[in-house]
Amino acid sequence: MNLVSLPNNLGMLKALCYLKMKDSKITGIPKTYSEIERKSNEIGFTMPSDIYVGTLLKTLVSSKPKGHFLELGTGIGLSLSWMVDGMDAESKITSIDNDPKLVAIAKSYFEQDKRVKIIGMDGTEWIKNYSGKAFDLIFADAWPGKYSEIEETLDLIKPGGIYIIDDMSVQPNWPDGHQEIVDQLIGYLENRKDFNLTKMNWSTGIIIATKKC
Ligand SMILES: C[S@@+](CC[C@H](N)C(=O)[O-])C[C@H]1O[C@@H](n2cnc3c(N)ncnc32)[C@H](O)[C@@H]1O
Repeated sequence: MNLVSLPNNLGMLKALCYLKMKDSKITGIPKTYSEIERKSNEIGFTMPSDIYVGTLLKTLVSSKPKGHFLELGTGIGLSLSWMVDGMDAESKITSIDNDPKLVAIAKSYFEQDKRVKIIGMDGTEWIKNYSGKAFDLIFADAWPGKYSEIEETLDLIKPGGIYIIDDMSVQPNWPDGHQEIVDQLIGYLENRKDFNLTKMNWSTGIIIATKKC
């Protein structure tokens, strides 16, 4: 071996051996998750949140003891199961969905848990009429709170609180023209001087924004 070229060879070896962290091993899965996932497949729910955003939500929610949380877009409760699993005994979460069938299924999984309130109504109407206290974290997973009423929704976040959205990278179910709407939302968030923002090409494309104190 030519010793002079050793550093280059080492670099090459490192590059060849370099493997990305294995993030597919998900820990701390909520007890109800597999049943909700099974139900989601059974009814053919086409818009489930993925497991990665679930684990992220649980991690973030557990950073807010006695937290006050909001989810816009319950579905049948996949992401909700993660958030609830991350909450302490004194935290509370409200989740909104306008589909009565989905709401009925979601309620069946959380009815025993007094910390959870699932409301079946239009998100826009709910946002415009809400007059309670601000939230520590909002997961906006429906049109309202994301592509409409964004300003009102960001107003509902406490200083130090978190706004999180997924599906910001191209998804197979996006209709024509959706990329433009997504780009507008990203641009809007980038220009909000009162939030710090991180965009992640991970999961389905996540944006986390925290309200400056
Ligand atoms: C992406 S899915 C939510 C997925 C859910 N977070 C999960 O973990 O599987 C979006 C949800 O928003 C609901 N939705 C759509 N338009 C809405 C509206 N205007 N108000 C409230 N919910 C709405 C849909 O019924 C659907 O369940």
